[in-house]
Amino acid sequence: MTNNENAIGIFDSGIGGLTVFKEISSMLPAESIVYLGDTARVPYGIRSPEVVTRYSFECTDFLVRQKIKLLVVACNTVSAISLRRIQTKVSIPVIGVIEPGARAAVASTKNGKVGIIGTEATIRSNAYLNAIRMLREDVEVFGQACPLFVPLVEEGWTDGIIARLIVEKYLKEMVKKGLDTIVLGCTHYPLLRDVIQNTVGDVSLIDSAIETAKVVMEVLSENGMLRGQNNEAIKKFFVTDSPKKFVNVGEGFLKGKIKDITTIKPKMSREQDEN
Ligand code: DGL
Repeated sequence: MTNNENAIGIFDSGIGGLTVFKEISSMLPAESIVYLGDTARVPYGIRSPEVVTRYSFECTDFLVRQKIKLLVVACNTVSAISLRRIQTKVSIPVIGVIEPGARAAVASTKNGKVGIIGTEATIRSNAYLNAIRMLREDVEVFGQACPLFVPLVEEGWTDGIIARLIVEKYLKEMVKKGLDTIVLGCTHYPLLRDVIQNTVGDVSLIDSAIETAKVVMEVLSENGMLRGQNNEAIKKFFVTDSPKKFVNVGEGFLKGKIKDITTIKPKMSREQDEN
């Protein structure tokens, strides 16, 4: 039996999953959370499905060893490619970010034209397109990979001229399609939200992080898995590379201190993979 006192586990390829961490923390303040950012191997979005799956299994195994009661795959790329396989691998509930985002997009669109922005792997997988079509067949879906958004965010350059020019370059054509809704289909993108909104104008932006946090709350309460309010919630962070940049950018985004952070070694380094 799962202990309700156990933490929620969240993993992402890097810092972007903090967008999901933040929403879950604010919706469920009594819950303890263990967060793993695979900062040594970010970005996942340019890698093959085999490599993404292998990395995601390692992250899953690590978090399961921390005795979590529920796993959130905060990375859109992993959710698009290996969510089902992770779900069959472990015995706790596993929640991805694609379906919640797709549901919110379908609820939001009035003219049936939805844009998806994400990593190359997410867009190539058609995971959002398929999830949206399962809900409503007549929605037109336009996908756009924005590979430079992730390094911008990891670097903390989320506003200013460079961010603006890059966002404009990627989204200029997409806005001409007359969409009324765009899904921020990558955990890093909500950090660029203001620049994206200024570029696309009067279009609803869907933040999968908020939608995913709602699903986590539903699953925990429907299954009687919510934690009691007696003890203080513990927030622990693990990264696979030096924590300095993660802490700097993360604290700015969370507007709070990241106190308990540990560097762990991924089983296989990126260098070994590339050889
Ligand atoms: N966090 C990943 C996602 O949501 C993006 C970053 C990456 O490419 O690793 O897709």
